[in-house]
Amino acid sequence: MSLALLSLATLCWGAVTPEPMIQCGPENGPSPEWMVPHPLIPGELKDLQVEPVRSNVAMEDYLILMNISWTLRADASIFVLKATKICVTGLNNFRSSSCVRCNYTEAFQTQTRSSGVRWVFSYTGFPVELNTLYYIGAHNIPSADTNEDSPSMSVNFTSPGCLDHIMKYKRKCIRDGSLWDPSITACKKNEKTVEVNFTTSSLGSRYMAFIYNGTVIGHSSVELHQSNLTRTSLVIPVTGESQGAMVQLIPYFHTCQNDCIRRKATVVLCPQPPVPVPLENRKGWLPFLLPCLLVAIWVLVIGIYLAWRHERIKKMSFPATTLLPLSKVLVVYPPEICFHHTVCYFTAFLQNHCRSEVIIEPWQKKKIAELGPVQWLTAQKKASDKVIFLLSNDASAECDGICGKSKDSPGDSSQDLFPLAFNLFCSDLRSQALWQKYMVVYFREADTKDDYSALSVCPKYHLMKEATAFCTELLRVGQQASKGKRRPTCHKSCSL
Ligand SMILES: *[C@@H]1O[C@H](CO)[C@@H](O)[C@H](O)[C@H]1NC(C)=O
Ligand SMILES: *[C@@H]1O[C@H](CO)[C@@H](O)[C@H](O)[C@H]1NC(C)=O
Ligand SMILES: *[C@@H]1O[C@H](CO)[C@@H](O)[C@H](O)[C@H]1NC(C)=O
Ligand SMILES: *[C@@H]1O[C@H](CO)[C@@H](O)[C@H](O)[C@H]1NC(C)=O
Ligand SMILES: *[C@@H]1O[C@H](CO)[C@@H](O)[C@H](O)[C@H]1NC(C)=O
Ligand SMILES: *[C@@H]1O[C@H](CO)[C@@H](O)[C@H](O)[C@H]1NC(C)=O
Repeated sequence: MSLALLSLATLCWGAVTPEPMIQCGPENGPSPEWMVPHPLIPGELKDLQVEPVRSNVAMEDYLILMNISWTLRADASIFVLKATKICVTGLNNFRSSSCVRCNYTEAFQTQTRSSGVRWVFSYTGFPVELNTLYYIGAHNIPSADTNEDSPSMSVNFTSPGCLDHIMKYKRKCIRDGSLWDPSITACKKNEKTVEVNFTTSSLGSRYMAFIYNGTVIGHSSVELHQSNLTRTSLVIPVTGESQGAMVQLIPYFHTCQNDCIRRKATVVLCPQPPVPVPLENRKGWLPFLLPCLLVAIWVLVIGIYLAWRHERIKKMSFPATTLLPLSKVLVVYPPEICFHHTVCYFTAFLQNHCRSEVIIEPWQKKKIAELGPVQWLTAQKKASDKVIFLLSNDASAECDGICGKSKDSPGDSSQDLFPLAFNLFCSDLRSQALWQKYMVVYFREADTKDDYSALSVCPKYHLMKEATAFCTELLRVGQQASKGKRRPTCHKSCSL
């Protein structure tokens, strides 16, 4: 049998030698060929390309790898080509570099494939991180000796973020909600309202939507009771022209809280309601009208009952909102933190769940202008029970479109205030008695950035994981301070 196959193969292929293939393995040092001079060296590559692919090797981690493909030049130098070496340097936070060498299993006998197309090979390897610039260089072996420049080719490849159709399978992206398909539709109902529909995710039940056309012209949020792939509709009042504006949908999932992946869509005109049907055509409908009416009334009654119950549950579950604040906290945050998403959310959390009165810079612009920022900060520090540095260590929490653009957005003036506060309070951090007053709050794993390393002595909290411990601490200092003198203050909230 095998003999028959063999002879068949011999018949078919005749004297044709097998086509070259590649065998690749790591080679991080110099190639052995480099040490000895070669009279003839192969030319450089014709083309080099990189694309991310989803590896089927490590399915559970959805490893994303580079598919590097290269085309050989169709010239006589191909006959001395033995191997191609590819090196990848990731220009991430830290520089990392590694190389593979792909040996051709056979010497090339022809300049092109028998079909006449150029030789193209590809290697899949090198894990791809999110949003990273990679420098990929390749050269043919044997290369020129030490004194000469070898012909080589390089390309840059910037890996996309979590919304890319391949990158979305990275574990981090899945955790941040990359596989959620909200299918947002947004339309302008009239001059004053926009209707936004989207599909909720099972990862979370809180969503916020912003309408903006350079500046925020409307926003709304929703908290659902049961979070499963249901279609939700938000009717958002707007203060400006909404046709053509953007809507940004921000989910708050358990896994990523404030740093979840945000989605965008464009506001279009709502489809016009159908023209009313003339009266004579309606007669035939009459027998259907009555049951419909009954069903409608029934639905209405159920709806009213549910809304009433919802209100009641809401009131029961947040009794703290009605109590007077116990502690007073000054919150400072660097300018790259998005005001609307992160600072407002955090402020509301402090007010509603930790019974704290919050001081943030955007609410006291006038006072700051009067006193000057240094005086203001010093006074607020003195008046507060705690000073909180709100930090974010994830790029996706940083400002984008909706807080970055508008000149008078509250995010802008804090640009000067945060470094000032940091430097001003730094001297306190050297004394144990004084640094007790400071706290650092993250929404993700705490790793204090080098720029703010002085804060590493402060107690750190990781919201929402340590929300209870964090609130308890605020309530404790609040109770100590309020023995006696705390007067009711107005409860400012984060409206736009
Ligand atoms: C490729 O060839 C070189 C030199 O002959 C050898 O050292 C290396 O192990 C080979 N690599 C692979 C993956 O076969
Ligand atoms: C890599 O790219 C080459 C050339 O485009 C293609 O033929 C090959 O199938 C790709 N490999 C994978 C694993 O996607
Ligand atoms: C690749 O990126 C590096 C570093 O930013 C840059 O110096 C180089 O010019 C880029 N090369 C190409 C081909 O774009
Ligand atoms: C949004 O949903 C509502 C209710 O389900 C529906 O009446 C409306 O047509 C939808 N709007 C858009 C823009 O899809
Ligand atoms: C949500 O939907 C999934 C799949 O449709 C189902 O397995 C799960 O039980 C549902 N969860 C809730 C809370 O309804
Ligand atoms: C946004 O809407 C406002 C108010 O209607 C309008 O004045 C402004 O020109 C719009 N901006 C853009 C960028 O369309």
